[in-house]
Amino acid sequence: MHSPTEAPVSSSSPPARAALGSRALFPDLEVAVYLNHASLSPPSEPVRQAVRGVLDGYARHGMLWYREEMERRERLRGQLARLINATAENMALVPNTSAGVMTVALCLPWRRGDRIVLFKGEFPTNVTPWQQAARRHGLEILWMETEAFRHDRPAALEALEDHLRAGVRLVAVSAVQFTTGQRMPLEAMGELCHRHGSELFVDAIQAAGVVPLDVQAMHIDYLTAGSHKWLMAPEGLAAFYASPEAAERLEPNVAAWLSHEDPFAFLTEGPGQLRYDRPIVQSARMAEAGTFNVLATAGLEASLGLIEQLGVAAILEHVQSWHDAAEPGLIERGFESARMAEYGGRSGILSVRPPDPSTTPAWARALAEHGIGCGTPDGWLRLSPHWPNAPTEIEQLMAAVDRVLAEGLPDGPGP
Ligand SMILES: Cc1ncc(COP(=O)(O)O)c(C=O)c1O
Repeated sequence: MHSPTEAPVSSSSPPARAALGSRALFPDLEVAVYLNHASLSPPSEPVRQAVRGVLDGYARHGMLWYREEMERRERLRGQLARLINATAENMALVPNTSAGVMTVALCLPWRRGDRIVLFKGEFPTNVTPWQQAARRHGLEILWMETEAFRHDRPAALEALEDHLRAGVRLVAVSAVQFTTGQRMPLEAMGELCHRHGSELFVDAIQAAGVVPLDVQAMHIDYLTAGSHKWLMAPEGLAAFYASPEAAERLEPNVAAWLSHEDPFAFLTEGPGQLRYDRPIVQSARMAEAGTFNVLATAGLEASLGLIEQLGVAAILEHVQSWHDAAEPGLIERGFESARMAEYGGRSGILSVRPPDPSTTPAWARALAEHGIGCGTPDGWLRLSPHWPNAPTEIEQLMAAVDRVLAEGLPDGPGP
């Protein structure tokens, strides 16, 4: 077998330019108004090209192409680190957000009776692994309500501090709530956690790519974010961050062959290198246990390239002006909006609900018939535009809503 060091050089075309409010890089997208990035993003042309490039590389060169993908993986760790103000050494690539949560839930050296704060209203990814750890290690779960932070933020932060004062090992929260779009006050929560000797774990899948994240300023110990929503890449990949101090505390309970130092020596450096006692890396990378998703890696590198061109702060402003333009018309037509008054509580998600929230799925089906794509988590009609969405779409959205109001909702089961 050829060594990975003999890989050929890949060819690269000039980088595509992204423009706020332009769908030019999504030429095949058939949904007229795509407002579902909080569920899954359609791939842009550069993402599709990047994925095809990997397949073509392997098709032509087989194993010789492997080195290209290892180098890409290294570059991607750097891109993801820049996105959250971390360094590449503290980033790992894992299969999905759940794997990032499970890594910490499985690797923290829990003590019986340790207390963890979880939130009702969270996506189950950021609950189930902690519940399993609680069952296995005799942990106590302290429940808080995400909605308390939307309705009275100062009071909710005080209630969190009361828990922390009594001694909490870890707080696990999402940066943005998947139902209401509430952006959580991570800076304040992280500051409180560290003041009281607790750790902060953040599921950032509904934030990364659309909401600025800074693991230093937010005092975040662990963060994970999947690739297929606001990062606009294919499914099957997630970033995982552990601060150097936090990674020191982890036991390598998820380690496998790629978690060792010098994991390729036995494949490339001749006989006598096949050993099982090489140290496990004491960083987030211990979670990179085995062979990885090269297609999603290439897609994510390309989509992050576009996000970096635009800048996350500018993307959030763009999306907020879309929300600003859409929200009043929806409220006028009888919808209740979950959007917070303060900018710091806003995200890429604009969630509204009809007077009878049990009709939300029927609303989504009816809007889909008029070319509007949106999500329906827990009774909310979730509109999630991203950088390619244009304010001119709002007219189409309102026209569709008016037609549904005039024609009535369809009957029948959901999609
Ligand atoms: C807040 C949140 N966390 C996690 C996930 C998904 O996790 P995973 O990447 O493991 O599928 C979603 C949506 O699918 C989500 O909205």
